[in-house]
Amino acid sequence: MSTQTESKHESAGAAGGFEPKITAFVCNWCTYAGADLAGTSRLKYQSNVRVVKLPCTGRIDPHFIIKAFENGADGVLVSGCHPGDCHYTSGNYHARRRFTMFRAMMEFLGLDMDRLQFSWVSAAEGGKWTKVVDDVTNKVRNLGPNTKYRELCEND
Ligand code: FES
Repeated sequence: MSTQTESKHESAGAAGGFEPKITAFVCNWCTYAGADLAGTSRLKYQSNVRVVKLPCTGRIDPHFIIKAFENGADGVLVSGCHPGDCHYTSGNYHARRRFTMFRAMMEFLGLDMDRLQFSWVSAAEGGKWTKVVDDVTNKVRNLGPNTKYRELCEND
């Protein structure tokens, strides 16, 4: 299954159009389950996202996001349980606070803030997951490749 998705993704890029690479850091309990529901419900959405599953959004270190950009991501999505629904009580509140500070750091690093997206997707929201993925993919596709930051890294 992933091989088919991968080859479709690569051939679209090889055809000349830019196909963004998007890394999604998701929590195990809500968003990952929502993405799984989208899959088992056979909902269609764009295949540009590679999912990294973590126990909770509170576990997401800003370094993960920087590393994703350094390693070729054109966009990053962070998604977890809705406020009040975190399985570790308050991990998503910590993530939200950290995310606000991280945006300022992104600006300092010269990263386009539109390349980073935060969302809440529950285990019951397979449809919302497809919409979030499609919206992020379209937005990053319009921004184009993330060359500015990669050039900065190469010049260091
Ligand atoms: Fe989902 Fe904490 S367990 S955000």
